Amino acid sequence: MNTASTSASTAPSLTQDELKALVGQAALAYVRPNTIIGVGTGSTVNHFITALGTMKDQIKGAVSSSVASTQRLQALGIPVFDANEVESLDVYIDGADEIDSQGYMVKGGGAALTREKIVAAQATQFICIVDESKLVTALGRFPLPVEVIPMATQRIARQFAALGGEARVRQKDGQPLVTDNGQHILDVTGLHITDPLAFESLVNQWPGVVTVGVFAHQKAQVCLMGTATGVKTIPY
Ligand code: A5P
Repeated sequence: MNTASTSASTAPSLTQDELKALVGQAALAYVRPNTIIGVGTGSTVNHFITALGTMKDQIKGAVSSSVASTQRLQALGIPVFDANEVESLDVYIDGADEIDSQGYMVKGGGAALTREKIVAAQATQFICIVDESKLVTALGRFPLPVEVIPMATQRIARQFAALGGEARVRQKDGQPLVTDNGQHILDVTGLHITDPLAFESLVNQWPGVVTVGVFAHQKAQVCLMGTATGVKTIPY
């Protein structure tokens, strides 16, 4: 972590959702007029999308990382482009389930990790927006989401067991959750990820893994962190 600056002092009694709203609003500072914005997924990004609605006439539109975010953007009248229509984005704005002092993240609590990684890869800058509960000293506190092809689930679970992890298939309404890409999610507990770059590379090459939720090769360049004393801007 380099330097951090704090803006606008706030009351210490803000709820987690209010902190998310603060950083969602703060992220507007990274939206340049006449550009297409990469937009992530989740409850923090939902606040950003709401804020983005106030400047929708100043941007060309967005590339979205999920069906849910696409619907929210379109409901506000913000054009959504297919990722294939856009060569590059200068900014991608998204939340995280964990972020460490280097800007390495775990993502995928909302099951959108694959599209999030694709859109993040198109962007020059990843701006991560989180409340301070997401800050960790080492990745692994939050169960690691991994999108997998269903026929490989048990084999991949055994590979995680060999690393000390326990993998469970994420459920929804009593059935395995099906992602926007038609695949399943494993949530892996018991991991302590000391080398996120090496870990991401390792798991990514296991057959049947679509995407591992460690974002190390595409880490954040800036984190806007909602704290009891305001929004901290943390560059990496
Ligand atoms: C979605 O798949 C995730 O990567 C989210 O970015 C992450 O789960 C953070 O979500 P919240 O903003 O809802 O905490």
